[in-house]
Amino acid sequence: MRGLIVSTLSLLALGGVEAHPQSYGGSSSSCMPYDTGVALATAFRDLIALPFNQTLAKHAMTPTFTDYSDSVIELINNGCPNGPIALGSPTFSGRTAFIKGQSGQAPIPFTIQKTYPACDSVAFTWVSQPGPGGPANGGKGVQPEQQVSGIIILETVPNTWNPSGEFDWKIQTAYSEFNSGAWLYDLGVFVPTNCSAPTTNSTS
Ligand SMILES: *[C@@H]1O[C@H](CO)[C@@H](O)[C@H](O)[C@H]1NC(C)=O
Ligand SMILES: *[C@@H]1O[C@H](CO)[C@@H](O)[C@H](O)[C@H]1NC(C)=O
Repeated sequence: MRGLIVSTLSLLALGGVEAHPQSYGGSSSSCMPYDTGVALATAFRDLIALPFNQTLAKHAMTPTFTDYSDSVIELINNGCPNGPIALGSPTFSGRTAFIKGQSGQAPIPFTIQKTYPACDSVAFTWVSQPGPGGPANGGKGVQPEQQVSGIIILETVPNTWNPSGEFDWKIQTAYSEFNSGAWLYDLGVFVPTNCSAPTTNSTS
């Protein structure tokens, strides 16, 4: 009986979403408003690309926010397979850990290319602004010399913590992957040995 109620509720819940597939990020009252998706993507960008703003982090993220990025772990591990953080683990577990880690990190400027708001998530593509480069390129910055591109998916939940706050939904989980190879090159961790090789791309 209990199982039946649960599955009936699940079907109802699914039905509510399925009935309005075209309204993802739009008119269905159970979905995140489109503008909120765009605003949360922008907030997440600002938390990394601008001087750190703890108030914004508290507004935009749930207390149990979790961040996954093997690209970041690869950098933390210096590309070593026996590094301190196992690939696939959370990069940050909890908003407090994110605030602690990110507030000590210099801003990494990047631009959002396109935002894809959905019902309970928002994805975006981004590209870095090539900068002075890291130590291997004579710079001290965290802007790699080469352009870096990445993709971020943010899972979101309705804001039940402070509903009258800045956002009516909050970020629960972030999945972020990007070209950390360009960064490892920039830091001098990886040194390519065959850069003058002719391209192997061929249409023949
Ligand atoms: C930090 O974020 C809060 C909430 O979005 C905002 O009101 C405030 O102006 C921001 N501070 C700075 C220095 O941008
Ligand atoms: C460099 O790349 C070329 C072209 O792919 C290849 O033929 C050559 O063996 C490579 N040399 C080394 C040292 O890896």
